[in-house]
Amino acid sequence: MSNEVPLLAARDLVKTHGRTEALRGASVELRAGEILAVTGASGSGKSTLLHCLAGIVRPDGGSVSYAGERLDTLPEKRLSELRRTEFGVVFQFGQLIPELTALDNVALPLMLAGAARGDAHERAGEWLERFGVRGQEGLRPGEMSGGQAQRTSLARALVTEPKVVFADEPTGALDSLAGEQVMTALVHTAREQGTAVLLITHDAQVAAYADREARLSDGLVAPTGVTV
Ligand SMILES: Nc1ncnc2c1ncn2[C@@H]1O[C@H](COP(=O)(O)OP(=O)(O)O)[C@@H](O)[C@H]1O
Ligand SMILES: [Mg+2]
Repeated sequence: MSNEVPLLAARDLVKTHGRTEALRGASVELRAGEILAVTGASGSGKSTLLHCLAGIVRPDGGSVSYAGERLDTLPEKRLSELRRTEFGVVFQFGQLIPELTALDNVALPLMLAGAARGDAHERAGEWLERFGVRGQEGLRPGEMSGGQAQRTSLARALVTEPKVVFADEPTGALDSLAGEQVMTALVHTAREQGTAVLLITHDAQVAAYADREARLSDGLVAPTGVTV
């Protein structure tokens, strides 16, 4: 471990859903530009950990710090602004807006950040091209293959050039070829942009793309060191 201050740090996170203790004191750190795989069995608390780190859900106990600032106590307005500008999120099932074309889905985060429609579309088109979705800009999510939809989701997560991308089983619904294409695109772009990635997966082949792996078991993290 370097003594560099981590970009994102969770300490002793506790989160219960009803009577289920999803996190029971989990701690994890993500350094700038690092790709961290969070692995563990289904139900071990991976998604809950991601939601807490990304500021989507507030933990019941413990703390989350981003660039030295407490996230878990940040007022909602600042938190949502931070999520919009510093973070990108990709879920297992893309969660693109079904009524919007690929181009409009990717342009949306830029427009929410105040970009003019024309500029947003131009940049969105460039990002779709980077992710190999060229020529499909006019398709709606229902008209795309799973891999195309997921690469569009990646473009949407990265178009604002965030510091951290949170990916929750991004290849979980894809066949292995489409999964490899998604992972290659994600890792290549993250390296190029210096984006840190918190990658949740229960697939060892996907985890192998990461610099390091943290394994969750019953709501606790057991760090397992370097995977590459
Ligand atoms: N919204 C929720 N309501 C009730 N229980 C939940 C909720 N979300 C997660 N859980 C429970 O918390 C535990 C951890 O879930 P989760 O973080 O989704 O794990 P994973 O992503 O590793 O499968 C599981 O037992 C799950 O059933
Ligand atoms: Mg999950």
